[in-house]
Parts: sequence; structure tokens; C-alpha cells
Amino acid sequence: MSRDRFSRVRARGPIPSPNIWHWPDIYEVENRAQDVDGVIFDALAEVADWGGRDVVDVGCGAGFHLPRFAARARSVVGVEPHPPLVAAARSRVAGLASVSVLRGSAEALPLPDAAVDVVHARTAYFFGPGCGPGILEAMRVLRPGGVLAVVDLDATVAPYGTWMRADLPHYDPAVVESFFDAQGFALRRVRTRWEFSDRAALRSVLGIEFSERTAERAFRETPGLGLEVGYRIHVRSAPSGLLL
Ligand SMILES: C[S@@+](CC[C@H](N)C(=O)[O-])C[C@H]1O[C@@H](n2cnc3c(N)ncnc32)[C@H](O)[C@@H]1O
Repeated sequence: MSRDRFSRVRARGPIPSPNIWHWPDIYEVENRAQDVDGVIFDALAEVADWGGRDVVDVGCGAGFHLPRFAARARSVVGVEPHPPLVAAARSRVAGLASVSVLRGSAEALPLPDAAVDVVHARTAYFFGPGCGPGILEAMRVLRPGGVLAVVDLDATVAPYGTWMRADLPHYDPAVVESFFDAQGFALRRVRTRWEFSDRAALRSVLGIEFSERTAERAFRETPGLGLEVGYRIHVRSAPSGLLL
């Protein structure tokens, strides 16, 4: 099947993701350390409840979040452009009958119109200013009243956000937030706790997220095994139908 079979927009192609593409094992450690209190999923349950519904996780990477959705969803599709990660995600969900993983990208989802109730994308840097095609695709595959939830790091929250901005001096959180606001998204901010099993794990994760200089600084500024990390959850609903 052509990956563009269902899509009306032209794919821009995947944006390289060095952390998970080059160091999938360390990214797995990172995913286990992230949001150990489940604050993001609690917030998602309020704004985009997936219980008994059909979910697509766009840019699902190695499929870390797919089993969590599958525990309450009717069906879950992971969509991922990078073939080795498609294989890793398939292997993770091999025993879960309600989950499938397809190769594709946000701008060309391999799904028919009005097929799902929730589109989720986590640490989805490919959803930012200029991601109009991805938003259009999400609206195309959502049923009326369905919800697109884009979850990404909040660079306004220290200490993690300070380290991000040290490495990305041109990144302006206000521009990103204005973009989503102008596109009709509501914003919810959450504060999470990352917790590592040991300092070597912390150091290895900082090493795949930041330049060497910033990773060293972040390691110095993190005395224990945990740190606070803020996230933005941008939410937009698909129109629920004609108002007569
Ligand atoms: C930082 S990783 C996060 C993976 C996963 N969401 C998680 O939380 O574990 C970002 C993922 O987005 C994928 N990606 C990059 N460009 C994309 C695009 N245009 N559409 C969909 N996914 C994309 C990458 O291949 C990578 O797997």
C-alpha cells in the first residue's frame, strides 16, 4: 500500500531525531525516567480521554506509549517514519491484538478520513511553527469531535528549559506558543518529575539530549537522581458537525 494512499497533503518527510535514532537504548532509559508520577497521562485523560476509543500515536518512536494507550483504548495505531523504530515498536506490541504500527509521518498519515478519536504526538518537535500540513492531516483522520493532543517540552520551565535554551539560543517559546494559539489550540502546562535509577543513567540521558558542554553543566546542576521537567499540552478538537 502506498504511504500516501489516504493523504491529501504532500509529505515533508521525517525530521531527524538524533536522540532516539542514534541511541535507542538510552532513549528507552529516558522514557522510563520521564514523568514517573504519570502527570501527563492524567492530564491527557481529562482533555483527550482515550477510554474505549481509537487512538493514533504519531511519531511513536519505539512505541513506548502504545501499551499504556492500549490498556484502555479500543484500538491503537502507532505511526513512525524511521524504519528501525517501526520494527522496534512492532516488536514491543507483538502480543497486543488491538495495536498496530505503520510507517508514515505526521504530514501523510496512512489512515483513512474520520478513522480515530484521539491523535497523540509526544515530544513531537515536528509539531511546531510550520506544521500546518500535520495539523490538517490530524483533522482529516479525526472523527467529528475528536481531539489532537500535542505534548512537548516546556522550555520556559527551569532547570531543563534553561538547558534547552542554552543549546538553542534562537528557540523562542513565545513564538511556538503563539503559533498553536493562532491555530485554535488550548494550552495546558504540566510539571513532571524525571527519576533515574542511578547517576550514570542520568548522565547518559543528558548526553543524548544536550551538547557536551550543556550536558556537563546539567549533570553538575542535578545533585540527585531526579529533576523537574515542564511540558506543554496543546489540544485542538475536530469540528463536531454543522450547527443548524
Ligand atoms: C523524540 S522522538 C519521541 C518518540 C515517542 N513519541 C516517545 O515519546 O517515545 C520523536 C519521534 O518523531 C519521529 N518523527 C520525526 N519526524 C516526524 C514526522 N514528520 N512525522 C512523524 N514522526 C516524526 C522521529 O522519527 C522520532 O521517532
